[in-house]
Formats: sequence, C-alpha cells, structure tokens
Amino acid sequence: MTERRLEGRLIALGVTGSIAAYKAAELARRLLDEGAELQVLLSRSGREFIGPLTFETLTRRRVLSDPLELLGDGRIAHIVVADSADAIVVAPATARWIAAMAAGLSDDIITATCLASAAPVVVAPAMDGEMYRHPATQANLERLRGYGYTVVPPEEGALASGQRGIGRLAATESVLDAVAASVADRPVRAPEPAARPPQEETVREPDLAGRRVVVTAGGTAEPIDPVRFIGNRSSGKMGVAIAQAAMARGADVTLIAGTVNVPLPEEAEVVRAETAEAMRSAVLKELARADVLVMAAAVADFRPSRAQARKLERGAALALELESTPDILAEASRMVREGRVPGRARGVEGPGRRTVLVGFAAETGSLERAAAKLASKGVDLLVANDVSDPASGFGSDTNRVTVLGRGGSVEEWTILPKREVADRILDRVVALLETAVESARSGSKVSTEMSA
Ligand code: PMT
Repeated sequence: MTERRLEGRLIALGVTGSIAAYKAAELARRLLDEGAELQVLLSRSGREFIGPLTFETLTRRRVLSDPLELLGDGRIAHIVVADSADAIVVAPATARWIAAMAAGLSDDIITATCLASAAPVVVAPAMDGEMYRHPATQANLERLRGYGYTVVPPEEGALASGQRGIGRLAATESVLDAVAASVADRPVRAPEPAARPPQEETVREPDLAGRRVVVTAGGTAEPIDPVRFIGNRSSGKMGVAIAQAAMARGADVTLIAGTVNVPLPEEAEVVRAETAEAMRSAVLKELARADVLVMAAAVADFRPSRAQARKLERGAALALELESTPDILAEASRMVREGRVPGRARGVEGPGRRTVLVGFAAETGSLERAAAKLASKGVDLLVANDVSDPASGFGSDTNRVTVLGRGGSVEEWTILPKREVADRILDRVVALLETAVESARSGSKVSTEMSA
C-alpha cells in the first residue's frame, strides 16, 4: 500500500519546457497517490511538450500558465497558489528556468509563484550534460540552494540529444521523497478548500449523450418501529459521484437515492427510495428506459419481518426477527437477460440495446467473494471495495476498488477520489455500450464481455 505522506497537502507542480516534461505526468500521479491535492503550473514552453488536458484530467484543477491569470472569482491565480501550497516542486526544471529563478525574474507562472511563496521549493533539473555542467548553471543552482531550495540532482544516462551523460531528470521516487521530506515537519498551510485554487469539473467527451444512466446511491433504512430502523453507514458519495460523472458525459441520469448525507445533484432526476422494497420498485420501474444501471447503494440484506406500528417500549432485551430483502440487482439482471423488463418491448434487448449492469460489492478484508457475486448477480462489471479500509468504502472521499468483468478481467485500481473511480467505471461502461453497438452492426449476437 502506498504511504500517504502528503495526505491533505496542496502541492504545486511546476513543469518547464524540457523533453522530460512527459515524466511530470507520472510524478503528478504519484503525488496524488501519496494523498496530495495538486495544482499544476505549466510554463509556455512546457505546453509545447505536454498538453494541459493530461494534468487537468489527473488533478481536476485548471492548469495555470500565465502569471497574469485570474481565478474565476477574481483572485490572482499565482498568489493563491503561492499562499496555499505546502510545497512547490519544479520537475523538470530547465537551465533557462533555473537561471530566471536564480535572478528572481518573475516572467513566468512558476518563478512568479516561487517568488511570492514561503513554501519549500524542490527543483529537479533536466537538461543536456554540457548545459548542466556549465559554470553558469552550477552557479545558479548554488544560488537556489542558498534560497533554501532543495535540488534533486539529475542522473547519468541516455539524453534526448542521443548522447550519454548527466542531465536525465531524477527518478520519480527521488523527487517524491524530496517533496515529502520538505513538508514532513510543517503543518498544512491552508487546509480550508476555499483558500486553495478551486477544483473544477473536467470537460469530458459527451460519450454518454442520449443514454439513460440509472444510479442507486446511499443506504436503506428498514423500519423496526416508527422511530427506529436497521441501516448502514453509506453516505451516498460513491453513487452521487457516478451520477455526476455520467451527467458530465452527457447522460440523462436517474438517481435513486436511499439514506444519504450528501447533497443530491439538481440536474439529475432524483427518486427517493429509503427502504429495500422502495428501491426495488424504483429500480424495476426505471429499468424500462435504462441503458445502464449502476447499483452503488448499500441495500440492506435483512429487515425486520414485521415493522411495529407503535414505538417499542424500553425493556431488558429485545429479540428481532429478520427476513431477507429481495436481491434487486439479481432480479433486474434476470429480467434484462430474459427480455422481460416491464414497459420495455420484447426484442428491444439484444445486441446494441441491452442494459449494461454494474454492481458493487462491499467486502471486509478480502475480496475473495467478489467473483461469486459477479456471477450470482449476473452483472457485466462488479466493483469490489474493501470497506474495512478507512480510505475506502463508506463515507470516505476516496475508494480503492478491484473491477471484475464478466469476461474474466480483473483490474486493481490504486486509491483514487470517488469521482475518478466513477469516471473510470464509466469508461468501461462506454466501452461495453460501444462493443454492443459494434456487435449489432456486424450481426454477431453478443460480445465476450456482454455475453449472458
Ligand atoms: O455511499 P458511500 O459512503 O460513498 O459508500 C460507498 C459504498 C461502500 C456503499 C459502495 O462503494 C458499495 O460498496 N456499494 C455496495 C454495497 C453493498 O450493498 O454491497 P453488497 O456486496 O452487499 O451487494 C452487492 C450488490 O448487490 C450491490 O450492488 C448492491 O447494491 C446490490 N444489492 C444488495 C442487496 C440487495 N438486497 N439488493 C441488491 O441489489
């Protein structure tokens, strides 16, 4: 498991115009793995080597490139970053950038941010060997060290020029360690989200336009009496993230919400269903028009056999008789496969038109039972999470999931924000929908992943 040495920290990643700029994407991903929030500062020449979309997709923050840039609310972008970043890491740093920084020239977004900031700065040079060895570069690096900056020296090896020598950007791990060390003894500078540059929706391809995605979210509350219930700790975050991600990709979304403690998106059609029975009715009704059903809700498996009409009196003990609730997902999947979804004409199912079914599996400790759930629930994808891990499952903003496909695929994903998990699940869903359309065009009956 990745150490999360940067949990809750905001790190500014400066990327300058070197061929090694592509390695900054991996560094960004590793910083995120360590729990950091990230603001990427991409110099104009850096943009020639790597596009902002890569970083924006990873970080959910608009990449900043202009020292004159303002945030949506009018604040000066580089000052907000300078004041809120816990550390600034410049990787790769070119000879030109190092010289500009040594001289205190603030004509690019990264030097401007460093000059305005009290945060520790880590610099990882990358350049041709002669450039690196040049006394001017060495003097400039010495000057940066004099400012208290940490320089992570480049490595020996093959260079972009075709020569071998010193100048390769240091290994990602070394840069990561230097960033972690630079903040280790410091408190988080600006923990309030409002003090940081805002996170934004990433613009996505509308690859779910014209599709109806039905998502269940939250838990269910099975009544014992008029004031008490059996429930669970699902917050609704995972399901809501899927609904939001689907809407951002152009889908029409029905969100069937059980007991939740997060705001529900206004643009979705929201159906409230707070018991397993209510959720069953809502899901089976929505199935008629669903292209995709994602069951992220934690539906109770048991409920009191009989809910008391009056509040139970306090006593020495209470024995409750419980009965199983209907397995909604298994029932929906049977209906889809057998082509008997109420309100959906028979024959509407089939290649190109079958509802893609996604289930979740909440497990504790081991995900061994997930494969059996994939089969018993009859879903195309099963997203298993270990809910005993505090960074995963109930109530957390992040999730670590293993995704099982009907064709036997198993993918373990690293810990990610729930919204990122949602988007990745939808990437798989879009691929399944497209495979089905292709199968329909070519006349073949079923695809491997969608075969029932
Ligand atoms: O809401 P959050 O706080 O963000 O937490 C997210 C989550 C942990 C609830 C979510 O990631 C998750 O794991 N959801 C599924 C929880 C669950 O009910 O798992 P299960 O293994 O008991 O059920 C397997 C699947 O069958 C689920 O898709 C479930 O919705 C469905 N099910 C379960 C019981 C039932 N009676 N009917 C069902 O359809």
